[in-house]
Amino acid sequence: MFWLPSWEADFLIIGSGIAGLVAAYRAKEYGSVLVMTKERAQDSNTEKAQGGIAAAIDEGDSPFLHLEDTLDAGAGLCDHDVVEVLVTEGPARVMELVELGVRFDREGSEWALGQEGAHSKRRILHASDTTGWEIARTLIQECRADRRITLREGCFLVDFLRDSHTGRCVGAVFMDSLTGELSTCRGRAVIVATGGAGQLYQNTTNPAVATGDGMAAAYRAGAVMMDMEFVQFHPTALSLKEAPRFLISEAVRGEGALLRNINGERFMPDYHQLAELAPRDVVSRAIVSEMLKSGSDRVNLDISHLDLERFRKRFPNIWRTCDQYGVDLNEGCIPVAPAAHYIMGGVSAGKDGETSIPGLYACGEVACNGVHGANRLASNSLLEGLVFGARAAEHARKFIEEHSTEPDLFGLDLEERTPDWDVPWAKVAEQIRLLMWEKVGIIRKGNDLAAAVAELERIRQHYPKRPASRRGVESENLLTLGWLAARAALMRKESRGGHFREDFPQRDDRYWLRHVIVQR
Ligand code: SIN
Repeated sequence: MFWLPSWEADFLIIGSGIAGLVAAYRAKEYGSVLVMTKERAQDSNTEKAQGGIAAAIDEGDSPFLHLEDTLDAGAGLCDHDVVEVLVTEGPARVMELVELGVRFDREGSEWALGQEGAHSKRRILHASDTTGWEIARTLIQECRADRRITLREGCFLVDFLRDSHTGRCVGAVFMDSLTGELSTCRGRAVIVATGGAGQLYQNTTNPAVATGDGMAAAYRAGAVMMDMEFVQFHPTALSLKEAPRFLISEAVRGEGALLRNINGERFMPDYHQLAELAPRDVVSRAIVSEMLKSGSDRVNLDISHLDLERFRKRFPNIWRTCDQYGVDLNEGCIPVAPAAHYIMGGVSAGKDGETSIPGLYACGEVACNGVHGANRLASNSLLEGLVFGARAAEHARKFIEEHSTEPDLFGLDLEERTPDWDVPWAKVAEQIRLLMWEKVGIIRKGNDLAAAVAELERIRQHYPKRPASRRGVESENLLTLGWLAARAALMRKESRGGHFREDFPQRDDRYWLRHVIVQR
């Protein structure tokens, strides 16, 4: 089948979170930019980010200290050079956001800096508890206002297109999110910034759009994937029967909130010297252990000893949302439990976002560039999108200069897709999420992981391989990524960062100070 591109641009950018928008804002200086996004521009994990963005801007802080904290959290698997880029370029990029109009909170003439787990300093810039919303608002406004950038909403990434002679990524296939109609888009450089895959899990803080589309499409296209076993579970998501797992920011513990089991006992000091501000994986496992002991589906975040008026002003969104679900914070207690939050693994990328496919760049959560290692330090992800989105745009510019020939979509053979209107995709996705939560979750063991791999393979046999509907492709993506995560977790016979094996509870640096790398 021959395809004429429906759209074309010098820079094809997929995703409208912080990484994609920053890449677009940079790339516009060098050529035409097309940003394709699955739903509305603001529907991303960026918009949901509460706590803030980490940057060593305080006099008593330094990029070196930020680097040390990031490496510690990453449990031996960070790439030192990439982290160095993050912490040294980060402060300048953050100040560029301020120049663009992002309104971070201040205390008098100083920045109001928050504290989060495993940071040795207060270094989290925030805009009350809606930091991501404020950043997204500013960047979307800037991108919409610039005639060099076209922002197309409702365009769901299906697959990347590669030139069969050179292997270069020359564009992508999209599906209209509403009608299901397919189109192709040509790009002289393609930057994928589609975010993570939190929807792999039954309980997640992520929005519905986080189905790992960019990761799965990159894997199908032959990109190298790395560290898929490392998933971060946020310790404190709202835990109520009828409510979504709304994030209760780590900044709440940074302001002094205490975790208590349902018998009212504070437990974190028994698990780690940093107590409530220990690394997230430690806090999540401690909570699970307390929940198991008490037979409860939650623990409580105690804020009763804090100045509640001040709390309400600092966390208005949390206050409002709890209220909406019937939790009156004047009573000083928030029911919480862990939920999937962030995937450290993804498309293997260098410090300029370059992937194993020429012409394809990855930045933000979709990428695995070694900045987070086995466990991401809180509030480093907005910073990652900011720093590496800009770098990907710069490198893509060089790529375009060096590859002046127009990529050609003529003659690309796109396989037919199978009609799948009668497949109960919602049920399939639910099955995958439950399986991942129960068997590839916070506490893992070999038998469960092997059973998850087998079950995912069994599910796959039953359904069309190249479904024609958006829900079908999303489910296919979840199946692929769940399988990659479960297999990598089965392979890694140790515990490290976000990956905990009950049957191998120790960290094993002798054998496992290495990445799990996979390519189709
Ligand atoms: C939070 O506010 O706790 C989330 C911040 C993050 O995940 O980096």
